[in-house]
Amino acid sequence: MDSKDPQKHQKPIELLVCNTCRKGLELRDGDKRPGEILFEALTAVDLPKLVQIHGVNCISNCSQGCTIVLRGEGRWSYVYGNLDPEEHVEIILDGVNKYLNAADGLVPWRERPEHFRKNCIARIPPLEAYHD
Ligand code: FES
Repeated sequence: MDSKDPQKHQKPIELLVCNTCRKGLELRDGDKRPGEILFEALTAVDLPKLVQIHGVNCISNCSQGCTIVLRGEGRWSYVYGNLDPEEHVEIILDGVNKYLNAADGLVPWRERPEHFRKNCIARIPPLEAYHD
C-alpha cells in the first residue's frame, strides 16, 4: 500500500454470510440454498483487500434471509436481511465499501444503500464500547 491508499490506516473488517438461508423456498435434495449461492457470488467478486468473508451456518434470521453481518474491531456491527443472491450482490458491495470507509462503522443514513436502510435487522455496539 502506498501513502495515497485510502485503506492505509484501516483495520480489516469481516463480512459474514449465512450460507444456509433458504429464503422461504422449499428445496429438494441437491438444490443449492440461496444463502450458499449468495456466499459463492460474494466470494467470486473483487472485495476490498481488507474485507474477510466467512460463511456461517445460520445467523438466526432465517425468516428474513438471506442474511449478512458486517463487523470489525472498534466498529458497530450490522445484521442485514432479505437479501437476494441474484439482485443484491452489487448493493452489498456498495454497503461493504461504505462500512469499511467509516471508521466506527456508522455510515450516515442517507449514504447507506436503500436496501440496507430498509432491511437492517440489528445493529450492535462495538465490543470496546463498555470496556473503557
Ligand atoms: S438459515 Fe440463514 S439466518 Fe438462519
